[in-house]
Amino acid sequence: MIELGVADGSLIDELMVLTAQNLCKLEIKEHFNIIKEIGRGKYGKVLLVTHRCRGTPMALKVMPKASTKLQGFLREYCISLQLSRHPCIVGLFGIVFQSKEHYGFAQELVVGRDLFAIIQPRVGIPESAVKRCAVQIASALEFIHQHGLVHRDVKPENILLLDSNCCRVKLADFGLTQKRGTLISFISGTLPYMSPELCAVTLKEGQKEVKAPPVSVEPSLDTWAFGVLLFCVLTGFFPWEHCAEEDDFYQEFADWCREPTEAEVPSQWKRFTPACLEMFGKLLALDAKQRCSVGEVKAYVDYEWLGTGSTNGLTGLNGKVRATSTPSVCKSSPVQEAVH
Ligand SMILES: Nc1ncnc2c1ncn2[C@@H]1O[C@H](COP(=O)(O)OP(=O)(O)OP(=O)(O)O)[C@@H](O)[C@H]1O
Ligand SMILES: [Mg+2]
Repeated sequence: MIELGVADGSLIDELMVLTAQNLCKLEIKEHFNIIKEIGRGKYGKVLLVTHRCRGTPMALKVMPKASTKLQGFLREYCISLQLSRHPCIVGLFGIVFQSKEHYGFAQELVVGRDLFAIIQPRVGIPESAVKRCAVQIASALEFIHQHGLVHRDVKPENILLLDSNCCRVKLADFGLTQKRGTLISFISGTLPYMSPELCAVTLKEGQKEVKAPPVSVEPSLDTWAFGVLLFCVLTGFFPWEHCAEEDDFYQEFADWCREPTEAEVPSQWKRFTPACLEMFGKLLALDAKQRCSVGEVKAYVDYEWLGTGSTNGLTGLNGKVRATSTPSVCKSSPVQEAVH
């Protein structure tokens, strides 16, 4: 397989051209037995199938031609293929095709659920499981970043589990993955996982253009999303809805980051130990240039993350559940964006 590096990311382009020239035509039902649908996203669906000749179970990602650009499909497939040899990234079979109505490719079937499915709302998942998951996802993201790419869609729905204790997990969905340095001029809509610099280029309703300069796609976008994901799985809540002035939960956090010795730790962060707060401070540094790399999380796994007195749910100073809390973790709907 062609090796990719920071300097030769253009090999993805070459692989896309070669794949386009060899994209075979087949009808899904002629080659695969469809057992059931196991997932659905904005761009398509994922089917549990078995190969008609071999009986091999597979997860077939299929996207309607009517709403999918061939280039986008080829990019997702080629990037997934290049990265699939990492043990914490979903594997591929090298099967890629177009049918009359769909583009599709076959992925390794990951038999467990996704990470989102095991988060107990307002509770999260056990700290030991979070740490096992964190180390594996950090390793997958480091691998992606070493290849000059940024995942750009780090969220619980895109982490697949081989078991419900997170002993083996795999990162999936390279539909938004971009080369480092790609410029994003604007985004419509926000997600809780989006960093402050990305939220700054959000096109609000009624606005024709954004004031902030385009954002360069950098690994620090994944670091931020990874930090938000860790908060979500440790608590069952989003830390905020979006990084904007009008979001009180974000503002409280941002004030504390700017003046950590002066400002009080925001109430929803009080459950964490000092070591864990230090880690969050690095993952969620407001200034993208100050943000640590995802691998930094490994330096913190031997520390306790949740304090002994921490309770589930958002607690205020007096231990009562806050009247207004951030929403418990829910599925995020994708956003539209303009990239160069
Ligand atoms: N290889 C797999 N094995 C088992 N389940 C999978 C596999 N790939 C995806 N899924 C399930 O299907 C869902 C959707 O897959 P995926 O994220 O690739 O689609 P998408 O359309 O790109 O989603 P999004 O809305 O995040 O853009 C996942 O959240 C997961 O639950
Ligand atoms: Mg997805």
